[in-house]
Amino acid sequence: MYDKETLKTQRRYDRFSRIYDTVEYLFETKLFRSLRKKTLSKLEGRVLEIGVGTGKNLKYYDRKAELTAIDLSPKMLEKAQARAKQLKIHVNLRIMDAQKMEFKDDSFDYVIGTFVLCSVPYPIKALKEIKRVTRKNGKIIFLEHVLSKNKLIALWEHIHNPITRWLFGFNVNRDTKQKIIKSGLKVDNDEKLAFFDVFRRFTCSK
Ligand SMILES: C[S@@+](CC[C@H](N)C(=O)[O-])C[C@H]1O[C@@H](n2cnc3c(N)ncnc32)[C@H](O)[C@@H]1O
Repeated sequence: MYDKETLKTQRRYDRFSRIYDTVEYLFETKLFRSLRKKTLSKLEGRVLEIGVGTGKNLKYYDRKAELTAIDLSPKMLEKAQARAKQLKIHVNLRIMDAQKMEFKDDSFDYVIGTFVLCSVPYPIKALKEIKRVTRKNGKIIFLEHVLSKNKLIALWEHIHNPITRWLFGFNVNRDTKQKIIKSGLKVDNDEKLAFFDVFRRFTCSK
């Protein structure tokens, strides 16, 4: 059974699933689409995606990748299932909490999360689990929006956080890089992608 915060997150995304793609449409077409493609298209081997949501990343993976994807929300996962079917992509989709995964240690060559660490209730728990299931020389890649170092942007993020959290279940003011480091993972590459230092790609290893 899930704890209170995790249950709340699951329910929020179950509710949000119906309108998720519509709400994200503008960001998706103007920014996310190209970031997803650049990040995912060359991955090979055993790939785990955490918080797959409605499956927006699915079409960007190389068909040779052996894909497993999890999400906490059954309703989001239903959308991902429909998308996989439509795209004729084979993916092992599972309802699972990234904070407590059922996979064995060292199971994956890559673990991917796109705009997920902002919504996981206890991100350090999830990051430790990600570390556990990634094989020794494996890579972990996150696309995230994070707390800016610019004081004005950070203030904007702090003011808006209760709204995005309540409405959509994600936080816009998390210092995700610090959380990654705190979990014991190494940040090998930290790229600023858009909106000053807000949208970032972290490439990490064990
Ligand atoms: C903002 S959405 C991002 C979805 C997708 N990755 C994308 O790029 O569009 C966050 C997703 O993470 C999932 N999620 C949140 N906490 C989770 C957890 N503890 N374990 C697995 N999935 C989780 C939510 O259910 C939701 O589908």
